[in-house]
Amino acid sequence: MDIILKGGHVVDPASNLDSESDVLIKGDKIAQVGKNIKANGAKTIDCKGKLVFPGLIDMHVHLRQPGREDEETFVTGSRAALKGGFTSVLCMANTSPVIDNKGVVEYIYAEASKTGLINIYPAAAVTKGLEGKELTEIGQMAEAGAKALSDDGKPVMNAEILRRALEYAKMFGLPVISHCEDTNLSKNGAMNEGFISTKLGLKGIPRASEVVMVMRDIELAELTGAKLHIAHVSAKESVEAVREAKKRKIKVTCETCPHYFTLTEEAVFGFNTKAKVNPPLRSKEDLAAVKKGLSDGTIDAISTDHAPHSIEEKDVEFDFAANGMIGLEFALSLANTELVKDKVLDWSGLIKKISANPAGILDLKGKGSLAEGSDADVTVFDPAAEWVVDEKRIESKSKNTPLVGRKMGGTVLVTIVGGKIKYENGKFE
Ligand code: DOR
Ligand code: ZN
Repeated sequence: MDIILKGGHVVDPASNLDSESDVLIKGDKIAQVGKNIKANGAKTIDCKGKLVFPGLIDMHVHLRQPGREDEETFVTGSRAALKGGFTSVLCMANTSPVIDNKGVVEYIYAEASKTGLINIYPAAAVTKGLEGKELTEIGQMAEAGAKALSDDGKPVMNAEILRRALEYAKMFGLPVISHCEDTNLSKNGAMNEGFISTKLGLKGIPRASEVVMVMRDIELAELTGAKLHIAHVSAKESVEAVREAKKRKIKVTCETCPHYFTLTEEAVFGFNTKAKVNPPLRSKEDLAAVKKGLSDGTIDAISTDHAPHSIEEKDVEFDFAANGMIGLEFALSLANTELVKDKVLDWSGLIKKISANPAGILDLKGKGSLAEGSDADVTVFDPAAEWVVDEKRIESKSKNTPLVGRKMGGTVLVTIVGGKIKYENGKFE
């Protein structure tokens, strides 16, 4: 059945639209966007006073399938995505087995399409087993549909190997997503290095562990002319390095995550393992630099680095706890309160970073836009609604977030994927 979204404030930076409009969906495509569209027989969704966006795209999630289905699956991760307004995600390769050959790429597409909730695209590993030693068969995985190359979770420590990966990636038009961490500097570290790590008696991870690798990778991007995308930027100097690289016209893009513009290292007080993440939560100064990078265009994308972990992996001594927090269900609300209400970005600027730009970086055709003929992936958001994060109501299979009890500003009302309503007012299709 056709669907018409009536009278919402439509924000679609890809078609320069930021005004009250109707959106008509026919089949799995956007048929028309404009005022007073007549659509006899269509299902009508009243969007008066609400915001209507192209479906959000999260270019950095860990769905844990295959291998750790006790932590997350395509089904539970997709439900979390839908509740957060995400219609497409890129899932990282650090699964078990690793997404490091054509067979696993094919498995992801086959299993994810059985789920049929959102669009799931795989990132493929740069090196076999994420070991940093031997390149994967990049061409075969590109052909099977991998949308990016990444050893995320681990850096590629050998610069020569990353250079060759960038050269192959360029031949196949894929971006390389780099997890920037010099593991010699970060070794045994558990949180940001500074006053608080000293006070807590925890070994610190200096910002330089991230920054030296950002700088190295920028040089390799220049050397090869390949597309480099820096994952989860957390440090002030990383933002500055990317800003300078863009001035030098090097092909580099980058992302940050909601936790880096919302939380600081203070969240670790009390040895709260739910605030343990890699790269670690940093200082107030870093948080301010990340916001500046978002507002001046240095940071291209907001991704969640959704990283589900079991209770067994988190409910242990801080040094031994796993890194990561879940993020899909909170990202848009946090962006609303910390960025839009705080005037770091306007809605159009935010939607660029959480839909249009990720679609561009990953070359997802028909995504990230509400222009006529685009795929009918749409998110309806009520920026005024308030709710409190309740562990019992988290959709993700894992509950590891330091946000439990925090008041959220704004809620997703409807998420449409491929012209079908998959989530509406708290209920799944
Ligand atoms: O905190 C993190 N968790 N950072 C990463 O790079 C990997 C991720 C995970 O897979 O849990
Ligand atoms: Zn990472």
